[in-house]
Amino acid sequence: MLLYENLGINGAGHLTIGGLDTVRLVEKYGNPLYVMDEEQIRRNCRVYTEAMAEYLPEGSRPLYAGKALCFKGLYPIIESEGFSADVVSPGEIYTAIAGGFDPTKLYYHGTAKTDWDIRYAIENKVGYFIVDNYNELEALDWIAGEAGIIQDILLRITVGIDPHTQEKINTGRIDSQFGIAVDTGQAAEFVRRSRELQNVKLRGYHSHIGSQIFETEPFVNQVDKLMEFAVDMREKYDFTAEIFNLGGGFGVQYTEKDPKISIRENIRLIGEHLEESCAKHDFPIPKILLEPGRSIAATAGITLYKTTGVKEIDGYLNYVTVDGGMTDNIRFALYKSDYTMVNASRMKEDAAYLCTVAGRCCESGDRIAENIYLQKPTRGDIIAVLGTGAYNYSMASNYNRVPKPAMVMVNGYESRLVIRAQTFEDMIACEL
Ligand SMILES: Cc1ncc(COP(=O)(O)O)c(C=O)c1O
Repeated sequence: MLLYENLGINGAGHLTIGGLDTVRLVEKYGNPLYVMDEEQIRRNCRVYTEAMAEYLPEGSRPLYAGKALCFKGLYPIIESEGFSADVVSPGEIYTAIAGGFDPTKLYYHGTAKTDWDIRYAIENKVGYFIVDNYNELEALDWIAGEAGIIQDILLRITVGIDPHTQEKINTGRIDSQFGIAVDTGQAAEFVRRSRELQNVKLRGYHSHIGSQIFETEPFVNQVDKLMEFAVDMREKYDFTAEIFNLGGGFGVQYTEKDPKISIRENIRLIGEHLEESCAKHDFPIPKILLEPGRSIAATAGITLYKTTGVKEIDGYLNYVTVDGGMTDNIRFALYKSDYTMVNASRMKEDAAYLCTVAGRCCESGDRIAENIYLQKPTRGDIIAVLGTGAYNYSMASNYNRVPKPAMVMVNGYESRLVIRAQTFEDMIACEL
């Protein structure tokens, strides 16, 4: 029932994370509360570093995709695990650097970079730009020229793979708003032009096909497509890519219905396939970059809410209401994403109460789960949503003027506050 290895039940019948009692964590730090487990983050990182060292060419490395979860205190953990990082905005660049991260290990994404954004990234010495489109390429060239540097770049290309994930997190298809399509011939033009420019240096290609993908085949096909394109570009423009960045996307288990994939095995297959493909085309083996976000952060986090009430509409359904919701976890409202939830205060009771869990916003879509079974709560019980480490805090809002919750990091039976809860003053701080 508990899905993840870092969760347990203690003698008081309370849910534990990293060995710590979640009900006590709420008593100490307040509610609602995001809780992250540092050991679990590190374990998730090591799956990548170990498998990539074993199965992928030398110089290959994982980049943590900060869009999944971005705050200052996370970057020293990620960096000490040997990760570089993918950033998608000046705000993420700022946060990573504020956390002490080496900017030369940052890879800067984004489909709508302004001149100001480009300048900011150059001034802060980000290692690579992942160029999304022609306009950005031209702007980057002249801004890099102005700064007197030659900027390393990867080109984001769309390889035309549909990974069969949810529409809103599917990015590999030809009509995606991200990158330039290979199949239309436009990606070749992208390469030709970038080779003409004086202030950018093309190193290779980036492609990201989507998120929450459980199959291996789309990734293997992606390697084939990148290789075909790279071979074509070698013939046409005498350019041999030295880097293939395959993006992120490995799926994680949110409920028992989701399959549990082996990231290690996926990486092994990618490596094996890459080697065969390079041998077939007599192509020097490129370094592989992977950009995991969800599979690093999701399973390391939970959210703890206080139950505010139980409302039973006779003959219809039962609502359990909690003191958070779509402001700290938008994923159900956005994608109908399923989560596993438990009553952290009553773990030894049967989960037999069928209910829908609603948040505190004035919005019928403010739900965290529909028709799930919980140990029947009463007002004041702590409800835990499991697997909320990714795309929860990073997508949080102040809708209805709900402050963002605090985040606590647990590690080795200790806890520390890494993000304090927003105050009402914080919410009006920018208002004049
Ligand atoms: C370009 C890019 N890289 C990496 C990621 C991270 O993907 P995931 O969190 O599924 O690993 C995303 C997420 O959408 C992305 O757009």
